[in-house]
Amino acid sequence: MPGIVIVGVQWGDEGKGKATDLLGDRTDWVVKFNGGNNAGHTVVIGDEKYALHLLPSGILSPGVTPVIGNGVVIDPEVLFAELDALSARGVDVSKLRVSANAHLITHYHRTLDKVTERFLGKKQIGTTGRGIGPAYADKISRVGIRVQDLFDESILRQKVEGALDQKNHLLVKVFNRRAIAVEEIVDELLSYAERLRPMVADTGYLLDEALQRGEVVVFEGGQATMLDVDHGTYPYVTSSSATAGGAATGSGVGPNRLDRIVGIVKAYTTRVGAGPFPTELFDEQGDWLRAKGFEFGTTTGRARRVGWYDAPITRYATRINGITDLVLTKLDVLTGLEQIPVCVAYDVEGRRFDEVPVNQTDFHHARPILEHFPGWSEDISGCRTFEDLPQTAQDYVLALERMSGTRISVIGVGPSRDQVIVRHGLVD
Ligand code: GDP
Ligand code: IMO
Ligand code: MG
Repeated sequence: MPGIVIVGVQWGDEGKGKATDLLGDRTDWVVKFNGGNNAGHTVVIGDEKYALHLLPSGILSPGVTPVIGNGVVIDPEVLFAELDALSARGVDVSKLRVSANAHLITHYHRTLDKVTERFLGKKQIGTTGRGIGPAYADKISRVGIRVQDLFDESILRQKVEGALDQKNHLLVKVFNRRAIAVEEIVDELLSYAERLRPMVADTGYLLDEALQRGEVVVFEGGQATMLDVDHGTYPYVTSSSATAGGAATGSGVGPNRLDRIVGIVKAYTTRVGAGPFPTELFDEQGDWLRAKGFEFGTTTGRARRVGWYDAPITRYATRINGITDLVLTKLDVLTGLEQIPVCVAYDVEGRRFDEVPVNQTDFHHARPILEHFPGWSEDISGCRTFEDLPQTAQDYVLALERMSGTRISVIGVGPSRDQVIVRHGLVD
């Protein structure tokens, strides 16, 4: 079972970083296949806490070769800063391999991200402002700059000219900003070339060879199913393929190499940024959940929107990704609730929807139909087997499992590496 994909089920921040890290000692390679430094993964190892953005979480495990795949957008300055910060803490980052086909985020992508958001006013997406959307837009419009372009100055100059041609008109005439000089960008990009050069590789080839040797490769998704550009709550999404299909296109390995698809799902729901969120809480129970789960963004520090578990979303994610195993995280956060509400279906102006509606307007108007499950008050953070959990916690997990259509293989009961209950191993 060498190819394991990790994807978020909800709107991100489910604990994907911890799940990848958990597999660390059984893993040979970890590939980030989508997104960029919009991601924020917090991994806790003993007393040490690491916040990763652009690098895959597997970089924290000695012996693992981390890979940034072709589906990622890279801000080189952020990459180097993150590598330096990890090195300073004694993490070996020398094995990192970066795809020659990954696209680069530059100064004008960050600027465009901010000005277009401002321009949208009330309709803004609430992006992370890291230039992600504009960099992917350039990729799809065929005016992107790729890592390999850094090593041919004349090609690089031509491409930067091509990219800035229309953008400068836009910046000056629509957004009232100054034009960006081609040489400014070329000089900046060239300054990254020498440091990046030894990391650059044909990563699709390396991964295929590894898989043929039977090595374990984890494909670590950023963001999540409901933020996926095709399958999420468009247009309130990120600009990449965050679902399991993206693991193949974003890393250059065939889909038949993906043996196991692991969906990471929180025992409740959170969302950062704008867009529909049927189970969202606006009352003191929401404040309690946010404080108890410490739901503040790793990347932007924004308070996350919070709500109850949404079973139709997990069923939807199971179908879209072909999920074989779920990792249920943050069960410990629900400790102390007398009753735990779970959304089992939606009411859209008097019509019942058992599944996520395909029509965006319906989803915007969806109100949760809730079922209530008895809670527990015992501290569960020390539980290490399913039977250690109070009966009501076991019943809650089994109910979610029944409603979600896939087995819950791992349960998180705290932020640390060892605070998990493993019901079924993820690497076998
Ligand atoms: P990611 O973006 O999916 O990797 O998730 P984040 O790192 O942004 O957010 C998840 C947060 O929950 C992190 O701070 C983790 O340390 C923490 N976490 C992960 N699993 C658990 C768990 O089972 N219980 C608790 N209490 N915290 C967890
Ligand atoms: P991880 O990997 C939660 C959200 C942003 C915004 C939308 C578009 O930590 O789960 P973008 O900057 O990507 O163009 O913003 O997507 N978003 C995330 N929300 N977790 C993330 O990553 C996110 N990455 C992007 O808040 O609503
Ligand atoms: Mg996160």
